[in-house]
Amino acid sequence: MRLKYQSPTGMHDILDREYKYFRKIYDVVENITNFYNFKKIETPILEETELFSKGIGVATDVVQKEMFSLKTKGGDSLTLRPEGTAPVIRAYLERGMQSFPKPVKLWYFGPYFRYERPQAGRFRQFWQFGFETIGEESPAIDAEIVLITYSILKALKLEKITIEVNSIGAGCCRPYYKKLLSGYFKSKIISLCANCRKKTRDNPLRILDCKEEKCQRVVAQGPQTIDHLCKICRRHFKEFLEFLDELELPYHLNPYLVRGLDYYTKTVFEFFSESESKELAGISKNSLAGGGRYDGLVKLLGGKDTPAIGLAAGVDRIMELMKQGPIRFSPKLKPQIFLIQLGSLAKRKSLKLMERFRKVKIPIAESLGRDSLRTQLKIADKIGVKYALIFGQKEALEGKIIIRHMTTGKQEIIKLEKLTKEIQKRLKK
Ligand code: HAM
Repeated sequence: MRLKYQSPTGMHDILDREYKYFRKIYDVVENITNFYNFKKIETPILEETELFSKGIGVATDVVQKEMFSLKTKGGDSLTLRPEGTAPVIRAYLERGMQSFPKPVKLWYFGPYFRYERPQAGRFRQFWQFGFETIGEESPAIDAEIVLITYSILKALKLEKITIEVNSIGAGCCRPYYKKLLSGYFKSKIISLCANCRKKTRDNPLRILDCKEEKCQRVVAQGPQTIDHLCKICRRHFKEFLEFLDELELPYHLNPYLVRGLDYYTKTVFEFFSESESKELAGISKNSLAGGGRYDGLVKLLGGKDTPAIGLAAGVDRIMELMKQGPIRFSPKLKPQIFLIQLGSLAKRKSLKLMERFRKVKIPIAESLGRDSLRTQLKIADKIGVKYALIFGQKEALEGKIIIRHMTTGKQEIIKLEKLTKEIQKRLKK
């Protein structure tokens, strides 16, 4: 039966067992980023549309096709954040972080929105965690970001993680490489898909990560970025790889990795899991995390020339993989006590009684909506508690309560003030 109201296409609830995985990811990320001295940041879910079109690039798929944008009643054009880097840099500039000691290290965890065609591991509302290190150009930091991400995925017990890395150069060498690439693709235009044909002049880098087989054949014969890096970019990349070697991380060079956002410079990387499970085939093709350097973004958004680097990971994709992994959560402790209340006075005093149990950390079940002794005893029996507490009108007036052993049926009256101590004693036995 189709319900009248369903969650919007590509958006889903997170609850129960899933929420445990979600929470576990949060805790691991918080723990590891704390260790590496990142500070938490929460930015608004909406930002000015121009922050994204300028920051991410007007020619990118995200800006051209995937933004949820709206006009406010006051006429402002706002967009549900499709990613976290541009908002973090906006906050860095707006909140005076340019004058903070460098580097400024920030991490985040929250929902993001892209109007994509929903499929396995691809949603319209998805969750990311990410971190950004602003104000440091050393390749050691590039390696640190890769190491932190790897450590998080390992702590979540994900297996067979691979890391793809590349360098796409910067203002010093990329324009020349772009020109070279554009000339090459123009000479092969009839062998490209319709979408890539449009990109040969203005956006030839984007053709490198086209998934069409015929385009990939053309790309494989074409010039590669790493052969056309300037001296500075080449040295940066070489040192970055030396750090990865030292850390013995499972990386490999992917000369066609360019990433889908325009702000990247020099180092770029993506994380994948090579799951063999058929159900996860769709997710495994997609990256679990991706990032890189963006040394020009702070200036582009109005700040001083400042190097920066970061990464974001897809929480929904990680959760799917975790469900197949070894992490299991022990079920919540079942209550051993059930509170049966009879009559209006007892019912009124019951909430206060429950609070006393919460304070001594004894889980207790109740059914405050029921009135009959028989029904409440039945529920207590079904839950399988050891003791039922029977709290009637008479007991409530006298400040007493009955403790009933559920298997023997033996009952005892005790004073209310002694109740939690008595229960603690009995449960310990
Ligand atoms: P991104 O590659 O666009 O990078 O996204 C990062 C991760 O978010 C992806 O690897 C994927 O796991 C997840 N993700 C992206 N789109 C979806 C979707 N529609 N459904 C589910 N998961 C998705 C960025 O967002 C950059 N801001 C990363 C960065 C930070 N670069 C530097 N600093």
